[in-house]
Amino acid sequence: MGAGAQHHPDKVERIVYCAARIGLGDHSAFASNGGARGDGHRGVSTIYRILIRPFRDWSRVLSISQYGDYQFDIYFDGMEGRMPKYPVDFTSLERTAAEVLPWWVHSYVAGGCGDEGTQRANVDAFSRHGIVPRMLNGALERDLSVSLFDMTLPTPLFMCPIGVIGLCSQDFHGDIQIAQASAETAVPMMASTLTQDRIEDVVPHAGDTPGLFQLDTPDDKDLAESFVHRAERAGYRGIVVTLDTWTTGRRPRDLNAGNFPQLRGYVLENYFTDEAFLNRLAKPPAEDLKEAALEWIKIWGNSLHWDDLSWLRSLTTLPILLKGIQHPEDVRRAKDYGVDVIYCSNHGGRQANGGLPALDTLPHVVEAPEGMPVLFDSGVRSGADVAKALALGATAVGVGRPYAYALAVGGSDGVVSQLRALLAELDLLMAIDGFPTIAGLRAAGAQRV
Ligand code: FNR
Repeated sequence: MGAGAQHHPDKVERIVYCAARIGLGDHSAFASNGGARGDGHRGVSTIYRILIRPFRDWSRVLSISQYGDYQFDIYFDGMEGRMPKYPVDFTSLERTAAEVLPWWVHSYVAGGCGDEGTQRANVDAFSRHGIVPRMLNGALERDLSVSLFDMTLPTPLFMCPIGVIGLCSQDFHGDIQIAQASAETAVPMMASTLTQDRIEDVVPHAGDTPGLFQLDTPDDKDLAESFVHRAERAGYRGIVVTLDTWTTGRRPRDLNAGNFPQLRGYVLENYFTDEAFLNRLAKPPAEDLKEAALEWIKIWGNSLHWDDLSWLRSLTTLPILLKGIQHPEDVRRAKDYGVDVIYCSNHGGRQANGGLPALDTLPHVVEAPEGMPVLFDSGVRSGADVAKALALGATAVGVGRPYAYALAVGGSDGVVSQLRALLAELDLLMAIDGFPTIAGLRAAGAQRV
């Protein structure tokens, strides 16, 4: 069930409650919030006219999830004197997360490669594109669903793999909290190879929402095979092979602080619970953590060649997604090797500096795949950004740092709130701009400013 749908019963109750209050002429809640101070009646009737009256015939809006309704939840809470627990916009979220995260986790999440120019360019690129609205299009109800291989997803959002997400929650079980948020919002997660909890212990928390496994292909074939088979057995629905992290990008923020959490043994649980890795050690990690972490860095990255794709393809019948593709020729070659999905991304500018913004590579990548779906991430900070990536041809769009910060600020609950805020903005944009479906938005495209 989609996020919007889960809010309806509560919303309806509150509509009835608020309407009853207005009927009784009780304006105290507004006055105490300052919203209608000194002019209570006019404020109330305006709120009633704008917010409540359209929903009195609420049977109409129950027929389909309306993600945009999330903002009414917030406004209704405000009418009852309750302020939102978490920021809904990225700038406030980022600022709040910086206050609560341990410095070394914040540095690792916020930092990028070199002077972080590509990281900034990823974000700025969105402001160079715009969507031209279409009027009188009957977008009263929106359908945000998309198809991805054998799955129909209620929304086009997914959570990108983030290796240290386990450390972004206060209990250091962020992977599980993300899975819980995924279950609640129906937004799929991609579990990284670098998790605090074993991938087998994470995915059950996602409930009915499909999860994908992201593979950092180790330079040890037995271990790589073991990871793929473990993911398959645990119920993950696809293998995301990341191509641009066989070595770590040069990140001055972390270099200046000597900060690399993995070398202190963090987020290596999948390795430390795998026979293929343990066979390489003289002593178990619990007895010699330093030695285990050093062994990990030796085999972490495998700079794959095209022919390695045949080997990876032979390991599993699950769909294979290639993450980090930005050139159309690479898309065409991937198709020849039986790859199922292209994932256009520059890793949020964390790996190589000096590249194009990922969004600028998307239209070229989308032209090439002859029917293959194209996922996209890098620089997505708002629902409008999601809409622009869809309009430029993405099948589904990945949220990265925003959900890491939301996890830091509010745990699983914070992530649910942030995902709903993004979906609400996307849904309202589609409503106001006259696009009832993602296909319509994609067909309209985005124009370069
Ligand atoms: C990442 N990303 C990433 N990607 C991946 O394939 N495996 C991983 O383990 C990680 N780990 C990781 C850690 C941190 C802290 C960040 C911020 C990102 C990259 C991620 O999947 C995605 O490509 C970027 O986050 C997109 O950029 P923005 O939108 O977050 O800036």
